[in-house]
Amino acid sequence: MNKNIDRDHQTTNKIFDNRSLATDYPTVIPLLKKGLHVLDAGCGTGAISRDIAHLVGPDGSVTGIDNTEKFIVSGRESYGETANLELIFSDLFSYQPAQKFDLIVSARTLQWLSNPKEALIKLKSFLKPGGQLSILDYNHEELEWIPEPPKSMQLFYQTFLKWRADAGMNNRIADDLEEYFAETGFQSIEVYESNERYTRDNANFLQRIGIWSKVAASKQMVEEGYINDDLRLSAIEDYDKWIEKEAKQMTMKLKEVRGRV
Ligand SMILES: C[S@@+](CC[C@H](N)C(=O)[O-])C[C@H]1O[C@@H](n2cnc3c(N)ncnc32)[C@H](O)[C@@H]1O
Repeated sequence: MNKNIDRDHQTTNKIFDNRSLATDYPTVIPLLKKGLHVLDAGCGTGAISRDIAHLVGPDGSVTGIDNTEKFIVSGRESYGETANLELIFSDLFSYQPAQKFDLIVSARTLQWLSNPKEALIKLKSFLKPGGQLSILDYNHEELEWIPEPPKSMQLFYQTFLKWRADAGMNNRIADDLEEYFAETGFQSIEVYESNERYTRDNANFLQRIGIWSKVAASKQMVEEGYINDDLRLSAIEDYDKWIEKEAKQMTMKLKEVRGRV
C-alpha cells in the first residue's frame, strides 16, 4: 500500500528536520489561528508540526501522526519541549482520535499512497463540522532541472516514476487533488501553487537538489528488477558531479488544496 524508498532513516530524519513551515508549507500559515486543534497526518519527524504548534499557541494543539516509528521517536527527542505538540506512531487509516480537529494538514504524504481518495475520506471523518483539510503535494512529472541533468539520472528518474506508478502511486497527485476533494464531498475548495524552487544562491541548494542522489542510494528499485545497479551507481556519481559544477536550478511542482466539510 505504502512504499517508502528511503531506508536510510538518518538521512531522512535530517531532510525532515530541515523542513520548516515558512519554507515548506507557507500557504497554510494564514489558516493557523490561535486556539486551533490541528492534526498533521504523515508528519515525518514533526518539524513542520512544531512550527504549527507555536502559531496556534498554548490554547491550541497539534497532533502529528506518522506510520514510520523512527521518525516519531526522533521527533519526540527533538521537539519534546513543545508542550502543545503530541507525536503519535500511527497509520492514518487506523488512527482513532480522541477528539475531532478544526484543521487537518498533510504535506507530501498522499503521494506515497495507492489509495489517496480513501485517505481523504478518512481524514474528513476526523474533522469537526466546518473544519478544514489542507493537502500539499507534488506533481513529480513536472519536475524541472536547469540545465538538464546527466542522462543516467534522467533515466533513473523516469524509472523511479514508473516504479511509483506500478505501485499505484499518483505521480501527478498535485493536479488531481482538486477533483479528489470534490469527489469526496468537500466544499469551498481552493487551490494554491506552492512550487519549490532552489537556485545556487539558496543556502540549502546542495542539500535540496541532492535529494535525488539520496533517493538513488536506496537499492529497492534494483532489488525489484527495475534498474541495474551499475546504472543506479552511475546516476549518483554523474548527478553529484553535475550538482557540483553545472546545476543552476531545480523546481519541484507542488499544489496546496484545501476544502471544508
Ligand atoms: C515525504 S514524508 C513528509 C513528511 C512531512 N509532512 C514533510 O512535509 O516534511 C511522508 C511521510 O508520510 C508518512 N506516511 C506515509 N503513509 C502514511 C500513512 N498511511 N499513515 C501515516 N503516515 C504515513 C511517511 O512515514 C513519511 O514520514
